[in-house]
Amino acid sequence: MPLRTRFGYNLSGIKLSSANSYNRTISMKSIIASIVATTFLIASSNALATNMPEVVKKFQCTSCHAIDHKVVGPAWMDVSKFYNGKMEKTPTGKTLKGATEGKTPEEWLVTKVSKGGAGNWGTQSMVPNDPSFEKKEGVKVLVRFILGLAK
Ligand code: HEC
Repeated sequence: MPLRTRFGYNLSGIKLSSANSYNRTISMKSIIASIVATTFLIASSNALATNMPEVVKKFQCTSCHAIDHKVVGPAWMDVSKFYNGKMEKTPTGKTLKGATEGKTPEEWLVTKVSKGGAGNWGTQSMVPNDPSFEKKEGVKVLVRFILGLAK
């Protein structure tokens, strides 16, 4: 079974020593690995934040999202892979066929990001980011950026 930290990093490459010291070893290794992973994530999320479109600063997106890992909302790379793929089922098992009918992923996501909502990726909600569509151009830039990540 691959060992995962709460950040979703696969640590199966780390060798655990003999079976009788298994429990102690695993907790020590996990603690060290979490510290390493956290340090890495702090460093990498800062670097990635500077690569986001400038307009992201007008919104609170990065308090809930990062490109490469889940925060409150899903990793934007995972979102991108989903909408660039066959869009069969979201991670919560929902089909978006009905909801997105007649709309491109871009149009559908601009509405979702503007109005907020929950249920496609988990139970947490996204707040309405632009309920009256006043900043629609900004939302569009971000949605295009997200969709472009996995292209
Ligand atoms: C309060 C936290 C929060 C903020 C702020 C936030 N999001 Fe989200 N976002 C979420 C959550 C939670 C989800 C998952 C919703 C779901 O499961 O349907 C999500 C989902 C998404 C999705 C995928 C939607 C889907 O249904 O597939 C996109 C794209 C997205 N966010 C972009 C953005 C952008 C762009 C911003 C800034 C303008 C933003 N988010 C701000 C929490 C947030």
